[in-house]
Amino acid sequence: MDNKLNQKTVKVSLGGRSYNIIIGSKLLDKLGQKIKPLVLSRRAFIVSNPIVFDLYGNKVSQSLKKAGFEVNLLMVPDGEKYKSLETSYKLYNQLIEHNAGRFDVVIALGGGVIGDLTGFVAATYMRGIPFIQIPTTLLAQVDSSVGGKVAVNHFKAKNLIGCFYQPKLVLIDVDVLQTLPERELKSGLAEVIKCGFLIGEDFISFLEEHIEDILMMNTEILIEIVQRCCEFKARIVEVDERDFGKRAILNYGHTIGHAIEASSGYKKYRHGEAIAMGMVCAAKIAQRRGLIPESIMSQHEDILKRAGLPIIVPSLLDTKDVMKHLLLDKKKRDENHTFVLLKGIGEPIIEGVASDDILESLKPCQ
Ligand SMILES: NC(=O)c1ccc[n+]([C@@H]2O[C@H](COP(=O)([O-])OP(=O)(O)OC[C@H]3O[C@@H](n4cnc5c(N)ncnc54)[C@H](O)[C@@H]3O)[C@@H](O)[C@H]2O)c1
Repeated sequence: MDNKLNQKTVKVSLGGRSYNIIIGSKLLDKLGQKIKPLVLSRRAFIVSNPIVFDLYGNKVSQSLKKAGFEVNLLMVPDGEKYKSLETSYKLYNQLIEHNAGRFDVVIALGGGVIGDLTGFVAATYMRGIPFIQIPTTLLAQVDSSVGGKVAVNHFKAKNLIGCFYQPKLVLIDVDVLQTLPERELKSGLAEVIKCGFLIGEDFISFLEEHIEDILMMNTEILIEIVQRCCEFKARIVEVDERDFGKRAILNYGHTIGHAIEASSGYKKYRHGEAIAMGMVCAAKIAQRRGLIPESIMSQHEDILKRAGLPIIVPSLLDTKDVMKHLLLDKKKRDENHTFVLLKGIGEPIIEGVASDDILESLKPCQ
């Protein structure tokens, strides 16, 4: 990690697939010079959507041109529904029309939707071409841009078609969060708080102290939290790149969270909002099992509430429907559901939880 000009670098060490995550302020202008040593070609393809491109496309393009790149733009409409094979196919067509070759570089400029889709296209076009992530939502900066999971959705399930494909660089400029809608910022904050409970007391205390600074977009604090989350995820990905073991702990709050998202048709809640409710339910299960004291349960509710996130599963949401989606969960083993529970802050464990216990955790929330 280097601290000069408050720019931080987190290295993800994966042998030949290693890369840096550079985190800081005013970094978009430096994109071209940062990429130059990493790729052989001087042709770049930016994949973005009209919202993000209007805000930052010019800066990114100028920086690339200044560094000697020929810049091409591939535009995708905004929205989760465009994270699809159909959109991928359109992107392959455009790459082919431009004669994109194996050494040209594809750059994802956007949130998790653009990052996942672009990564999937980069991974599959010509069996893989260089790929750069420029995540522009807090969720993408602390989670989706790191670790190499790339995918598109199938109408039957989210992220069903995908692979592991690491970028050559993740460039995180926290300044872009200034234009992020408040709800999106809070949704990303849920993943930050999740990391807090997984990392330990020290980071959770830091978040408790600075939650208002984060909501007010204090640059120094944003850089600090993004760096801490990336560092944490990097260390996990290094030991379990393909998600066969330790990486599962990153799913804290996700078992019930995913079921809440699915049962509301992925429309009512942002991902982070569902995860916030999922974490509270997981904390309730852990408390009932005697793994954590009531104080840690309340700590979940307090910090999530202060972050403006929902902590109560609304009674409008049919519990039976949530349970139905839990039964379809791909992570389910035998009759128990696989859950990440805490036995203390910074002490995640994986445990099987029976449907009745899940129902109990949902009930008092209503
Ligand atoms: N690959 C992974 O490991 C991983 C992990 C978590 C989530 N995901 C995926 O991430 C996706 C969700 O990502 P998301 O929450 O970033 O949503 P998103 O990409 O849809 O972005 C949210 C909204 O914010 C807009 N936006 C993005 N950056 C902006 C900015 N700087 N200023 C103004 N508006 C901006 C987008 O155009 C969009 O309308 C899902 O598809 C999910 O499956 C992937």
